[in-house]
Amino acid sequence: MPARAKRILITSALPYINGVKHLGNLAGSMLPADVHARAMRLMGHEVLYICATDEHGTPAELAAGKAGQDVRAYCDEQHDIQRAAGEGFALSYDFFGRSSSPENAALTQHFAHVLEENGLIEERTSRQVYSLADGRFLPDRYVEGTCPHCGYEKARGDQCDNCGRLLDPVDLKDPYSAVSGSSDIEIRDTTHLFLLQSQMQEDIRGWVEASDDWPQLAKSIALKWLDEGLRDRAITRDLSWGVPVTLPDGSIRPGFEDKVFYVWFDAPIEYIGATQEWAHSTGADWQRWWRTDAGAEDVEYVQFMGKDNVAFHTVSFPVTIRGSKEPWKLVDKLKAFNWVTWYGGKFSTSENRGVFMDQALDLLPADYWRWYLTANAPEGSDAAFTWEGFQSAVNSDLANVLGNFVNRITKYCASKFDGQVPGGGAPGEAEAWMAGELETRLAALTAHHENMEFRKAAAETRAIWAAGNEYLTRAEPWVKYKSDVDAAAIGVRTGLNLAAVFAIIAAPIIPDTAARILDALGVPQDNRRWPDAADKTLMDALPHGHEITPPDVLFSKIEDSQVAEWTDRFGGGED
Ligand code: 2FM
Ligand code: ZN
Repeated sequence: MPARAKRILITSALPYINGVKHLGNLAGSMLPADVHARAMRLMGHEVLYICATDEHGTPAELAAGKAGQDVRAYCDEQHDIQRAAGEGFALSYDFFGRSSSPENAALTQHFAHVLEENGLIEERTSRQVYSLADGRFLPDRYVEGTCPHCGYEKARGDQCDNCGRLLDPVDLKDPYSAVSGSSDIEIRDTTHLFLLQSQMQEDIRGWVEASDDWPQLAKSIALKWLDEGLRDRAITRDLSWGVPVTLPDGSIRPGFEDKVFYVWFDAPIEYIGATQEWAHSTGADWQRWWRTDAGAEDVEYVQFMGKDNVAFHTVSFPVTIRGSKEPWKLVDKLKAFNWVTWYGGKFSTSENRGVFMDQALDLLPADYWRWYLTANAPEGSDAAFTWEGFQSAVNSDLANVLGNFVNRITKYCASKFDGQVPGGGAPGEAEAWMAGELETRLAALTAHHENMEFRKAAAETRAIWAAGNEYLTRAEPWVKYKSDVDAAAIGVRTGLNLAAVFAIIAAPIIPDTAARILDALGVPQDNRRWPDAADKTLMDALPHGHEITPPDVLFSKIEDSQVAEWTDRFGGGED
């Protein structure tokens, strides 16, 4: 156990239900959240990692319509597909829920009721785009047109994909329906519930300014929004799929029979909803994670997301939580990411650019992708995926540095020491050098994980593996064996112990390979704990005489011919 075991709640932004996510989505929220969850568990902290599919709103309805499916059936199917993709990537969610759950509906309605009681919600009549051809209002993505800011012709009603600005559908020029393509459109009055965010401006600013643990990217986005002034926002929509708008007695609110809550109102509430789903399915207590009057005061709550989600998490969701004046847990640390690009451009299914999570796993095991995407996490700026970069990271870091080390030392032990950890010999200069490396580098690595610096964590992990290779060059057990078996024994013993340490420190990033190495070395589950940098026994922890089995090849190198084939199929630098 660490000196002070913490209780850490981790959430990654909920992926929209409409289709399997691409590697960029994975790299900017779910994967780093998983790496952090795994590292913190290994360090002995109590972790709850929660995610879910974001199932409401126009993205779900539109995608179901395109697939010719009923929206609920579409969501059921897509949820299972996304769950399987997450499992394939070894994402260690404690629970993967659904924002369409009854738990989330009840919570969403509860928050709306208390916000209204607190004077933060009122009914207002506003103007909305109405399609005469479709006989319906066209909220958010149901309408497309020309962006009033940058002139992009395919802007969606809620946001322009070209300039990134949030839009109001009525501001689009030359609007047309995304359902039928019809531009037979008029603006009609409709009544909605508005969340009076402007009244919470000072409260939220005070809270953001007092939050010391947010990386720069998150804080600057939040302050920019506050500087522009919080606007009152409609939190209901003219749609049928979503959380119904009720009165406190549970009946539908008069006038809201054909309306539901806006997806961005109910989606973050699903972080709590999914924790309740988890509690209901396991019998666990959700309140100690979320209610500060039930122990959640001690929880460290960390959120992971792409930069486009920051405003919703630093401003809108906190308005819901703080506006309720109830004792809910708020985020403590917020880690935001830039984009992973495809050779500097956008991932696009229609233009055959980029790899999606399910396709990736058909090409290579999850650890190959997890390693590359973590080592090149889009932390300081956008990061381009390239096949060449991927090939070089896999071949050099994984195959040459880690794979080669484990392979060499385990095979040598099998051939010269009957596959048993040899006793004999005493530590000398090479071991002293390695002990020094390990002590400083492990301390640095631990700090990088604690600070959620993913690129640095991967670089330090690699540096520790590389030090192991340097150690073998210095210790030369294969040379010493000829004249002094004991001198070779200390080298082999140290090497085997290093392989175990290398696997454990790699486990947050490449968990499947780490488990294979630890299984091959026969390290019991209870001993698979994060190493303490000051521990002097790390290089002699395996019992002498203990049996090991060399693992099968850990990583196959990526050939140039594979790069050429994948470039053809998924696009590459020539685009
Ligand atoms: O941008 C997105 O993919 C959203 N589905 C993220 C939602 S995060 C949370 F608030 F639910
Ligand atoms: Zn624009």
